[in-house]
Amino acid sequence: MIRFEPHDVQGLVVSGYGRMHESRYLLLAVDRAPAARRWLGELAERITASDGPEELRCVNVACTSEGLKSLGLGAAELMTFSTPFREGMTAPYRQRILGDVGASDPAEWSWGRPVAAHVAKPVEQVHILLLLFARDGSAMATLEQEETERLRTDGGLRVIRTLTPEPLPGRVSVGKFGVEHFGFVDGISQPVLKHSGLEAHLAGDEARRMVIETGEFVLGYPNGYGELTPWPRLVGSAGADFGRNGTYLVMRHLAQDVAGFWTFLDESTKGPNGEQDHDGMERLAAKLVGRWRSGAPLVLAPHRNDPDLATSNAFGYADIDDSGERCPIGAHIRRSNPRDALDADPFKALTRANLHRIMRRGRVYGPPLDPLSPDDGQERGLFFICVNANIERQFEFLQHQWSNNPKFAGLYDERDPLIGAQEDDGGSFTIQQSPIRKQVHRLPRFVTVRGGAYFFLPGIRALKLLATRT
Ligand code: HEM
Repeated sequence: MIRFEPHDVQGLVVSGYGRMHESRYLLLAVDRAPAARRWLGELAERITASDGPEELRCVNVACTSEGLKSLGLGAAELMTFSTPFREGMTAPYRQRILGDVGASDPAEWSWGRPVAAHVAKPVEQVHILLLLFARDGSAMATLEQEETERLRTDGGLRVIRTLTPEPLPGRVSVGKFGVEHFGFVDGISQPVLKHSGLEAHLAGDEARRMVIETGEFVLGYPNGYGELTPWPRLVGSAGADFGRNGTYLVMRHLAQDVAGFWTFLDESTKGPNGEQDHDGMERLAAKLVGRWRSGAPLVLAPHRNDPDLATSNAFGYADIDDSGERCPIGAHIRRSNPRDALDADPFKALTRANLHRIMRRGRVYGPPLDPLSPDDGQERGLFFICVNANIERQFEFLQHQWSNNPKFAGLYDERDPLIGAQEDDGGSFTIQQSPIRKQVHRLPRFVTVRGGAYFFLPGIRALKLLATRT
């Protein structure tokens, strides 16, 4: 039996560092490999592992494929990494399946643009993502200053850009959960990693729904097919285990059109004389997401928000809402994780859906904007981060086959209403109800991609090994 090695796995895999209210994401470029490798070796000593400690500050680090190349990995070694990671998020095929077109075209991104895209706009290739987390503002000021000072004095790396998420828990929170910019509690439904110790709190149906094989999130362990998730290797005997305890990290810089979201809700629910219908707006907003803004799931609270159910995650769809009359079949949470709904046999459906789970670790950025306030022209959104062992089968599948699939689960010509890549003339969204379903039209694209990349989040031993390369 393979034992989970939390001391070698970076902490982000098992924790969103919720007690660390401040965070910074530093995008770095390698200028000189020997100095950069030295820096990485020293950094390895400061990396927070999955067994902690999470007290004052936490540090994690990840590399793009170009980053590993610039640190000295050879072509044959890079070939042992997964194809999506090697090709990158902006490869034409991947751009298409991710729906990154129009305003979300990588050529327009503020970072992570493909090198070939724009001669006019010079591209700084992102090599390394340094993730800093600290308990409060003063701890972050010290951590950021120390880390940037080290980068400056070591000289082998340059900070291309610092991304600054809003401090947690944000202006509004529900229990331990934060609220994203459209106004919904976020981060409720997460898979629970088998062997992380967290599964001890779950039993019966909940465990069956939520506990996911270690190999779905960490390389080198049994995955949902009962196979060891393949891991990349370096040459030499020490390199054989290089990728074990590592994983892949997906980062997407997603701008949210909050004013557009509430204007759409307002216009779609106005009465015959143009009067506003606040309850109608809340109901439609909940239908788009599949939860009320409090987090209460529509499956359990179909008619009105129930604060007692806020953040509840104990539900499936098959038994109680097969038809989608409670939670629409195309709602954001039902497309992102259909649970037991996509097969006549709920057990099979759940087993299959659980092969496409992601561990979400993103944070909100930009100032809040109240519902129905005019657009203030400021950018706000989500630094979406997720961890998964197989980018193709997990993140990309979810985005392509579920979120952006016009024919998802028997629907026709519609996409995820919250994050979907809607056509220029707007999308549609079906609300299943009796006696006849209702459709809303002219749904704009509320979320635009502004940057992103695929990273490898190495195990801690692997970081040390990288540092010793010549
Ligand atoms: C700005 C963009 C986004 C916003 C505002 C957003 C918002 C939300 C909200 C409010 C929830 C419900 C609360 C929860 O269960 O945590 C949720 C759930 C979820 N979202 Fe998103 N999301 C965004 C982007 C994405 C993307 C890009 C993906 C993946 C491609 C994704 C995947 C998921 C998943 C897997 C769930 C949990 C579903 C479940 O297990 O029931 N989201 N999101």
